[in-house]
Amino acid sequence: MMDKLFRNATLVTPTDPGRPKAGPDQGAVRVVEKGALWCRDGLIRAVGPEEEVLRCLHPHEPDQEVDLEGRCVIPGWVDPHTHLCFAVPREREFSLRLQGVEYLEILRRGGGILSTVRSVRETDEETLFRATRQRALSALRCGTTTVEIKSGYGLDTETELKMLRVIGRIGRETPLDVVPTFLGGHAVPEEYRDAPDAYVDLVVEEMIPAAVRQGIARFCDVFCEKGVFSVAQSRRILQAASAAGLGTKIHADEVHDLGGAGLAAEVGAVSAEHLLAASEDNLRAMARAGTIGVVLPATAYSLRKLFAPARTMVDLGVPVALATDCNPGSSYTESMPFVFGLAVLLMGLSVEEALTASTLNAAYALGMAHKVGSLDVGKQADFLVLEGETPAVIAYHAGANPVVQVYKKGERV
Ligand code: NIG
Ligand code: FE
Repeated sequence: MMDKLFRNATLVTPTDPGRPKAGPDQGAVRVVEKGALWCRDGLIRAVGPEEEVLRCLHPHEPDQEVDLEGRCVIPGWVDPHTHLCFAVPREREFSLRLQGVEYLEILRRGGGILSTVRSVRETDEETLFRATRQRALSALRCGTTTVEIKSGYGLDTETELKMLRVIGRIGRETPLDVVPTFLGGHAVPEEYRDAPDAYVDLVVEEMIPAAVRQGIARFCDVFCEKGVFSVAQSRRILQAASAAGLGTKIHADEVHDLGGAGLAAEVGAVSAEHLLAASEDNLRAMARAGTIGVVLPATAYSLRKLFAPARTMVDLGVPVALATDCNPGSSYTESMPFVFGLAVLLMGLSVEEALTASTLNAAYALGMAHKVGSLDVGKQADFLVLEGETPAVIAYHAGANPVVQVYKKGERV
């Protein structure tokens, strides 16, 4: 057994009420000046003002003591929406977008997601693993300690399973906690271009059962969008996934208001993600159902679109989470500090609301809040030491990495 005492920290963390934080509660965080955190075997045993923690510890002596020199300590980021598993980036497509070609138009021409599908199918499992690990470790350096990674660049059973195996390996062979999501419904592959419903059949009848049988996916997601999957097709996929025991999520109303947010509330999805174009009625339905709204400001930034209405969502009582959406098309960043800065400076969230969004609510969006997402007793000692005195430094020191130390289960990584 290994005991560690971290002293002299300014702790800033949401505390876990047992459910995602919504409304005015989203911005309620605990601040402890001259705080300490005691962990044993990677789990938090005591946390709070230094005298209290020392009293808890007494008469026990910790094996190791670390002085954090008054710096700000927050929970490790939980990034609840990424497509980190891909072979090569799509820089040329980015240049096309800069010239004004629309994201969905590129997909319609057989590029976009479909070009990543071609390269992922051609890439052997080991090479795909190395490319993915490199990005996961880059995210870790920016402070991401728990990450969701989606499949969805295979779009055939064999390649979807290959991706899910690679994603599982990232969780075993890096310090990160990884939550695997099956996204067979990411696009209609070229070979099914004229028979999209037959592709939905394949997802429902073959891919979901195979992923569940092999125990390599925890959630199922679908890209509900004009020209991709309709609300009816998305409903079929999510209901099948749910019946097979997977949690559900939706890429909802990213470009057009198709009603994906309403579908998320209807099928009891844990979250609806993107929401740039979601209607206020559907946001209200999400608030009533307790559906978490995962907002992805780096995607709006990269697509040069208006941001999702995160301020309105908080005010309506939707629990809001933040994620990078890291992918080679619409958001090529693995940096949660960047996303945090956008949320605070351009989406109207307070620093405290953004902190809850990128830690505790994000953990709830992954079914991981029993382990991570806040500095509470019993959870993993996953935390970040910041360069400044408050979490505001994350938005303030823009374009840099304000995370100076990353701890995963009490170990510096
Ligand atoms: O979340 N919208 C669909 N999927 C991703 C983009 C994937 C890609 O372009 O490769 C997204 O934006
Ligand atoms: Fe996405």
